Amino acid sequence: MEAKRLDYQKNEGLDITNLIPDPFEQFKLWFGFAVQTDAHNANAMALSTVHNNRPSSRIVLLKELDATGFTFYTNYSSAKSKQIAENKYAALLFFWKENERQIRIEGVLEKVSETASNEYFKTRPRESQIGAWASPQSETTSREDLEKRVAEFSAKFEGKDVPRPQHWGGFRLVPEKFEFWQGRAGRLHDRFVYNKENTGWNIFRIAP
Ligand SMILES: Cc1cc2nc3c(=O)[nH]c(=O)nc-3n(C[C@H](O)[C@H](O)[C@H](O)COP(=O)(O)O)c2cc1C
Repeated sequence: MEAKRLDYQKNEGLDITNLIPDPFEQFKLWFGFAVQTDAHNANAMALSTVHNNRPSSRIVLLKELDATGFTFYTNYSSAKSKQIAENKYAALLFFWKENERQIRIEGVLEKVSETASNEYFKTRPRESQIGAWASPQSETTSREDLEKRVAEFSAKFEGKDVPRPQHWGGFRLVPEKFEFWQGRAGRLHDRFVYNKENTGWNIFRIAP
């Protein structure tokens, strides 16, 4: 049933009548098809933060999506985390080129609970867990020093579970605005915005 809906959107483009009123559900619909097209990269998203009025972007991976927002995991001492502490407003961008689709999401970042970070950390491969201890993300370093630190932490935790470092965890972006972009013939692309308002999501078309 959902596939039919997607076919309709792909062939006929986006229209107010075939958009799902809840943007999270519309995101999930498109994400599902992006995963089918490119399972390895579908969850890669550009995260833009702001420092001293200057934007800064990098790719992070979407790890969880729930009713409140979009979660990624990172180093809480990294450049991005310092920027987030200074300015909680941020933007996410997904681009699925095979599907000719882009989704922009803007909102506010919050840290996820320690329990949620612990649970996710446990699921990571051991070498990623060691990496979280060994890499002082965004700081000046040398390859030699990084490898030395990996060896040190590998020895420290040998034969034990690797605990989550306090400086590593998740952020959740709680959206206030979504934009769904569907490529169309003749550059007359479809763009729909969902703006969060007191009464719910206000949906409207904007020009390409
Ligand atoms: C495909 C891809 C996925 C990435 N996923 C993450 C991620 O989930 N979390 C993370 O902290 N960095 C991730 N990175 C690295 C970031 O792009 C970035 O280099 C790092 O987070 C440091 O950014 P910062 O110095 O602005 O804090 C990823 C990079 C790529 C290319």
